[in-house]
Formats: sequence, C-alpha cells, structure tokens
Amino acid sequence: MTTPRRPAIGVFDSGFGGLTVLKALLELIPHSDYLYFGDTARLPYGSKSAETVARYAIEATRYLEQHGAQLLVVACNTATALALDKIEARSGVPVVGVIEPGAESASKESKNRKVVVIGTEATVSSHAYRRALEQRGIQAKEKACPLLVPLVEEGWIDHNVTEQIARIYLNEAFADGFENGDTLVLGCTHYPLIRRVLRKVAPDHVAIVDSAQSTAQVVKDMLGKSLSEATEDERRKMPRLKFFATDSVEKFRTLGARFLGREIEDVHHVDLKE
Ligand code: DGL
Repeated sequence: MTTPRRPAIGVFDSGFGGLTVLKALLELIPHSDYLYFGDTARLPYGSKSAETVARYAIEATRYLEQHGAQLLVVACNTATALALDKIEARSGVPVVGVIEPGAESASKESKNRKVVVIGTEATVSSHAYRRALEQRGIQAKEKACPLLVPLVEEGWIDHNVTEQIARIYLNEAFADGFENGDTLVLGCTHYPLIRRVLRKVAPDHVAIVDSAQSTAQVVKDMLGKSLSEATEDERRKMPRLKFFATDSVEKFRTLGARFLGREIEDVHHVDLKE
C-alpha cells in the first residue's frame, strides 16, 4: 500500500456514534490526520432499506475520499452490514468495516461460545453478525434495539428512561436459551456511549465488547509500515481533525464534544444533493 507516512483517515457514520471509533483511533494512532463525516440529516440508517443505506454510505465515503481520505473506516454497523462490499467496490482506497473486528473481539472474550448481539433493525435483519460469529464457532442471538439510537442522539446517555428501555431489550435478549450467553456485543457504534447503563442492566456474568478498539487495531496494522517510517517531526504534530455534518453544525459541535471527550472545532456543513 502506498500511503504517505502521515495518512489522512476518513471515518464515516450516520451520526455521532462513529465518534466512539474515532476516539479509539486517536488513542491508538495519534500521529494521523482525521476526516470525520456524520450524516446527521439522514440518520437513522438503521430503519432504512439496504439500497438506501448503500446509496447514502457511498455518497458520504466518496465525499471523504474526494477530500483526501487515504483509508476509509466505515464506523457504522448498519452501513458495514448492508453496504461494505458496495463501498469497497466503488472506492479507490482501502476500506475497513466494524463487524469483523467486533466479531473477533467477541470470539476472544466468549468462553461458552454463546453471544448476544444488539444493533439496529437493519443490522440484525442482515444477520451479518450471526454469520461472522458462526464462522468463529459461536452461537449468536441478535436483538434489534431501535429506540436506543434516538436516545443517544438526544444526549440521554445517563437517563432513567434509557435505563428502563435498555433493561426491557436485554431481558428479551438474554432469554430463550441465551440466559447463559456470556458476552454482549454492542453491534451499533452508538451503544458504547450508553455503556454504563448497559453494564448496569446486563446480567452480571456477561462481558461487554464493542468494535471500536479492535477496528482501530485493524487500521493500525494496515498502516503499520507507513506509520513506523514517520519522521520525528511528523510524529510530534498533533492530529488534525476535520468534521463534516449534514445537519446542524452547532449541534454536532456541542454533542460531538461530549462523545469524543475533546473540543470539536473544525466542523463544516455538507449538503449532499440527492
Ligand atoms: N451508527 C449506526 C450503527 O452503528 C446506528 C445509527 C443509525 O441507525 O443510523 O448501526
């Protein structure tokens, strides 16, 4: 792969959730530049058809590529589940999704090979996680939790309504032969933001995994050589972060900073014409 030593990594999600992946990337690969695209005007993807999600995702990732991204991270489970192959086919740069890394994390964690995955309606209906887990010898139960994304987007990350809803979903998920499932996969990039609530309502014996860290590791491995060749000067530079949002820039700045854990300054409004 011929990537410059200080690559620009494009990260794409339907909204704020992908910031959990960006956060992990910044921790693991701080000497890179990042372009983040949140398609906030067209969220949620999780209740849309595969054709629509693929069209939106291709538009967004093309935008990142046109703006200099040399590697694309599809930091959205729904877009990965429904459109990764189509994004790869149309992109001129390497593409990394979040489902394979998420399944790999679950595989490392699960002792009894029984795993529960929560995600959007579209991710669950695609059975992308079930396939990825079954390939690793794991029995999977997938559960759609459509109310969680709007709660996260609203910033209700520590709210008792969120807790009540999460409890109902997880009670339904850890049932019907999966009472002893030992791992819970957060199959939606929004869910790490309510990890505390999910930890509280999930059965005590359950380990919680998400794909943020493992995806960041895959990206680091892909960039390996070019990163290790970076000069001392290049290493010393702080990451440059540039954000694009299709809805309110102000909302992105305010809510995004809470999710990313640092100030978000350079936000640009993007109008992707249909
Ligand atoms: N980011 C999406 C995911 O990881 C959830 C939000 C949406 O439905 O657009 O599945």
